[in-house]
Order: sequence, then structure tokens, then C-alpha cells
Amino acid sequence: MLVFGYQVVLMVVAFFFGQFPFFWNYEKKILRRMGVMQPGQARLAIFASGKGSNAEKIIQHFENHSNIHVSLIVSNKATAGVLDIAKRFGIDTLLLEKKKFMETNEYVQLIKNQGITHVVLAGFLLKVPDNLIQAYNNKIVNIHPALLPAYGGKGMYGDHVHQAVIQAGEKESGITIHLVDEEYDHGKTLFQSKVTVDPNDTPSSLAEKIHQLEHQHYPSVIEKWALRTS
Ligand code: GRF
Repeated sequence: MLVFGYQVVLMVVAFFFGQFPFFWNYEKKILRRMGVMQPGQARLAIFASGKGSNAEKIIQHFENHSNIHVSLIVSNKATAGVLDIAKRFGIDTLLLEKKKFMETNEYVQLIKNQGITHVVLAGFLLKVPDNLIQAYNNKIVNIHPALLPAYGGKGMYGDHVHQAVIQAGEKESGITIHLVDEEYDHGKTLFQSKVTVDPNDTPSSLAEKIHQLEHQHYPSVIEKWALRTS
């Protein structure tokens, strides 16, 4: 009773000091641990421009999940493999028109109307416009195939990253899973994991190793993050 009363007092004080959202998140965590509150439902939209091997692992991971559902696959490329994967799993798709995506609020409205709570980038090659970032503040996650802050930024994607890592003679590379903000590859890091770069590695052999690491970790990192923020 005392513990519960303390939580209520904390929320009232937080309200008067304008810190309500911060403390409410903290409260939710405690109430869930105490078994008083269940985690909310998360509806993920996965944004991808390519093959979609990460998207597929994420879809499989959440197939029978009670709180997290992959509800939409979004792509800017009509020929992207990820759209076939979506079809195979019976998930709704949205094909973006670049100009409309970059310059209007239309897609943000559409995604909000579909009840999407979290956005997952998995090989999405367009820069996310500010309106989407603001609409999903701290609710967009990305995976980068290197150890950020090294080998990130504009133009650093796919084999360009692995090429640069090998050319610089790095002994290790890896993956970074991070929140997305207005700057390229810049938001808060949630998770990193490393692989060794061997002397005979090529960009494609390194890409292969990194993909394995991504498949192993991205779904479970998304799961923890989505449960924490739902
Ligand atoms: C991954 O290596 C990811 O790190 C990067 O794009 C690649 C996407 O690969 N952002 P896939 O389409 O999931 O196979």
C-alpha cells in the first residue's frame, strides 16, 4: 500500500513539475513488474528498400506474439524483394512515392490511421523526413551494418560500408541498432555487436557475416524496445 501510495504521489508531483511523460514511462515499468499492468499492443511498420532478409526474420519472430504485431510493410521500390515476403505472409503493403513521402504529410496520416505504433527500418534507403520522425518520436529504430559512429552518415550503406571498413584495415566491424533522429545514423544506440574482419575478407564475405549477426539480434532487440515503449 505504501509503495503504491508513493507511486501516486510521484505522478502528482511530476504533473505539477511538467515531467509527467517521463515519470509515466517509469511508472509503467514498475507497475508491469508488479504485475498490476500489462504491456500495451505494438503495431509495427517495417520500412525496407531491398531484399528484406531482416524484415523476414522480424516477421517470423513476431508471428505468434501476444503483444507485438507486424502490421505493415512499406517500401519505396516496386521491385523490392520485401514486398514479395509481405505477400507471402499476408501482410499489408504500402508503396511510397518519393516526392509525396519527402514533401507532404499524407503517408504519416495514413500510417497513423492504420494504428502503427512503432517504425522499424530494415535496409530503407531514403532519409526519413522530419514529419515522420516527429510523429514517431523515439519510436523509430534502424539497423546499421557497422559500429557507429564509425562508418555512418550519408552514402554509407550496403557494400559501401564494408568496402570502407576493409580499405581502412579495420580488425573488427559489426552492427548498431539505434533510434532514429533528424541526422543520418545518429540517434541513441540501443545495441551493438562485433565481428572479426579477416585479412581475406571481401565486402561480400563481410556483408554475409554481418547479415547473420543482424538476423540473430535485430528481432529480439526490437521486442525489448517495443515492449518497453508500448
Ligand atoms: C542490412 O545489412 C542493414 O544493416 C542495412 O541494409 C541491409 C538490409 O538487408 N541497413 P536486407 O534487405 O534485410 O537483407
